[in-house]
Amino acid sequence: MITKRPRGTQDWYGSNMHKRTLVEEIARKLCKSYHIKEIITPVFEHTILFQRGVGETTDVVQKEMYTFLDKGNRSITLKPEGTAGAVRAYLENSLYAESQPTKLFYITQAFRYENPQSGRLRQHHQFGVEFFGAAGPLAELELISLLVDFMNELGLKGVKLHINSIGCRNCRKAYNEALLGFLNQHKDKLCGTCKERMEKNPLRTIDCKVPSCQEIMKDAPRTIDYLDEECKDHFTELQNLLNDMNIPFVVDTGIVRGLDYYTKTVFEFVNGEGFTLCGGGRYDNLIYEIDEKQDIPAVGFGFGIERIINELEAEGVELASEPQVDLYVGILGKEAKTAAYQIVRSLRKDGLIVETDYMDRSLKAQMKYANKLSAKNTVIIGADELAKGMVSIKNMATGEQVSVEISRIGESLT
Ligand code: HAM
Repeated sequence: MITKRPRGTQDWYGSNMHKRTLVEEIARKLCKSYHIKEIITPVFEHTILFQRGVGETTDVVQKEMYTFLDKGNRSITLKPEGTAGAVRAYLENSLYAESQPTKLFYITQAFRYENPQSGRLRQHHQFGVEFFGAAGPLAELELISLLVDFMNELGLKGVKLHINSIGCRNCRKAYNEALLGFLNQHKDKLCGTCKERMEKNPLRTIDCKVPSCQEIMKDAPRTIDYLDEECKDHFTELQNLLNDMNIPFVVDTGIVRGLDYYTKTVFEFVNGEGFTLCGGGRYDNLIYEIDEKQDIPAVGFGFGIERIINELEAEGVELASEPQVDLYVGILGKEAKTAAYQIVRSLRKDGLIVETDYMDRSLKAQMKYANKLSAKNTVIIGADELAKGMVSIKNMATGEQVSVEISRIGESLT
């Protein structure tokens, strides 16, 4: 037990860690060019934030949250997603008082007590963006463009954009009536959770994972048929913008998203197996629901980092490999140790990747080790070399050796 990690968690090391670093680097680089600033919010928040924000009748809140009482008897929850915390921070720190819009990104862990399986973890990681203050579909276009650029940079080709509109509160009234009518016709065949949800929040019955309910819900009324004029126009304008930008998409009326805050546009990026890698949408009421003094539209997405890495593997995409050691410095004799280490340190300062011996290995063993590391070059530093101020650098690929002054090792390698 003591050497076993909890179910649904993952250790990051080796090539997987390297891939994650590269994915995050690309995300950060893109956000920089889209002028989106980073935000880090606490790993835990007051439980009520998620109950109110994500919604009482969602799977996340009803079944999946890591909630506990702290020593002060406060109910605390490990964040199951990034939006609610970002909204809380936007409000608490009065970011709305600055010139709008506010565009924030985060790379965060998230915790959901789910049944662990491939691509479904109890601790996962998300790259997310939240765009506050803009009501028009150009905000959606901005996020979708960034996501398309992100996938292009990663080299992912098998991921498709699906969009839908679930309308605003105004449309929801008419839709809920139609959906309730439908659900009532099938009530005796629905599971207990659906029966309960249809009274409290009928839209959530669409997310039910029970196969018999899913079969019934295939024929349920679709939100897109109940949009008011404003929501219809918003959705049409978004589709026109995507077409103008040559961003391919399909309208998928089955997407409603599993969290309660969404209004109007919802979207997902889905792979060839129909697995969702990224989900997002507009949430124009959430800020008001959390703080009635502010009524600000917003839109955002969350991209699962583990799912990106799985998809890279599935599509056979090779990311840049880990940088190689530029120089292995072999140390010959105890007396040379400090001087050699000083050289190592100054070469590292110049930006080179340098390794050396910490294990008092024989010279032969050091060279074997340098080989194992795939070091590009090796050099041996002993009392002789230090006295003459000259070393011989060996290029490990060609076997070629050059003699250089110790002070010029760096430039001879670059
Ligand atoms: P979500 O669809 O619940 O949305 O999660 C976003 C992404 O996180 C998913 O598409 C998936 O890639 C990843 N994800 C979710 N749960 C797991 C899990 N158990 N294991 C592995 N990966 C997972 C949100 O969280 C919203 N906050 C997105 C958003 C931001 N909407 C507006 N702004």
